[in-house]
Amino acid sequence: MFGTGMAALHASFFTLLDPGDHVIVSNVVYMRVAELFADVFPRKLGIEVDFVDITDLDAVRAAVRPHTRLVHTEVIANPDLRVADVPALARIAHDADALLTVDSTFTPPPMMRPLDHGADLVIHSLTKYYNGHGDAMGGVVIGTRDLVEQTRTGALWHAGGAISPFNAWLIMRGSTTLPLRLQRQCDNAQAAAEFLVADPRVVHVSYPGLPHHDQHDAAAAQLLGGFGGVVSFAIGGTHADRLTFVNDLRVITSAVSLGHDKTLVAYEEYPGGPAAAFAQPFREHGLVRLAIGLEAAGDLIADLDAALTTAYGPR
Ligand SMILES: Cc1ncc(COP(=O)(O)O)c(C=O)c1O
Repeated sequence: MFGTGMAALHASFFTLLDPGDHVIVSNVVYMRVAELFADVFPRKLGIEVDFVDITDLDAVRAAVRPHTRLVHTEVIANPDLRVADVPALARIAHDADALLTVDSTFTPPPMMRPLDHGADLVIHSLTKYYNGHGDAMGGVVIGTRDLVEQTRTGALWHAGGAISPFNAWLIMRGSTTLPLRLQRQCDNAQAAAEFLVADPRVVHVSYPGLPHHDQHDAAAAQLLGGFGGVVSFAIGGTHADRLTFVNDLRVITSAVSLGHDKTLVAYEEYPGGPAAAFAQPFREHGLVRLAIGLEAAGDLIADLDAALTTAYGPR
C-alpha cells in the first residue's frame, strides 16, 4: 500500500522499467499518468513511449517493438470511459515478453479482478471506491508475490510514499461496505446515463452500460454487477452555458475525485488538452464527468433535469 494512487502507479512503473525500455500506454489515462509517460519518464529515465488507442488491438500489436517491456491501461478510462479488453491486451503483452499493468480504480472488486483476466500488476487509487467517503488517500499494487516484493523493497523503501496508519485504517473501515456501495453506484449511474441519453439537450453520453457504447460487449464480458459509477457526457451551447449547468446543480457537488458517498461533477472545456484522443463531441463541447454517489437515483435525475433547464430551457 502507498500514500496515494499516484504513488502506487509511479512505484509500479519505476520498479518494472529500466532506461531504454519501451512502453505502450493507452492514449486516454488519468492525466497525471499521461504526463508521467509523455514527459517525466522519457526525459528523466530515457524510457520510450507510444500512446495508442487501447481499444484498437491491431494498433496495439503494431506498436510492439523488440524492447517493449510494458503495456499500461485503465479498464474503464478516465475520463472518456473507453473500455479495455484486458484478456486480449494481456495476450499481446505476453506474446511480446512484456507485462500488462492495469489501473482498475474505476472497476474495483467485486466488479472486476484484472489478475484473473491476465494482468500482471493491478493498481488502485484507494482514495476513490475502496475508501468511499472522500476523506482519505491511498493506493495499492496487487500481483504475484515476486512483483509486489520488488515494488515494496524497491520503490516503496527508496522513494517512500508509504500510507499513514490513520489513512490505512479509514480505508480498511470504508472497504467493508465496498460491494454494497458499488452496486448502488452502478445502479444509479445506469439510471443517470439512461436519463441523459434520452434528453435532447445532451449531445453525447459515454457509459459502458449503454448498448451504443463502442465497447459495451467487452465491458459486459469482463464486469460483474454493473458498468461502474462514472458517466461522462457532452452538452451543447457555450462554455458559459455549461458552467451555468454545473453551478446550478444542488444535490450534485462540483469537485474532482470519484467513488465518494456524494455525487461529484467535474467539467473540463478541453479534456486532456485540445490534441487529446477523445471522441468528436468531447473535443467540441468539453466533457462533463459525473462520479455517482449513494443518493436516490430520482434525486440525481431531478437535479440534472433542473440544471439543464436553467442552462438550456425545458426539455
Ligand atoms: C484512474 C486513476 N488512477 C489513479 C489516480 C490517482 O489516485 P490518487 O488521487 O489516489 O493519487 C486517479 C485520480 O483521479 C485516477 O482517476
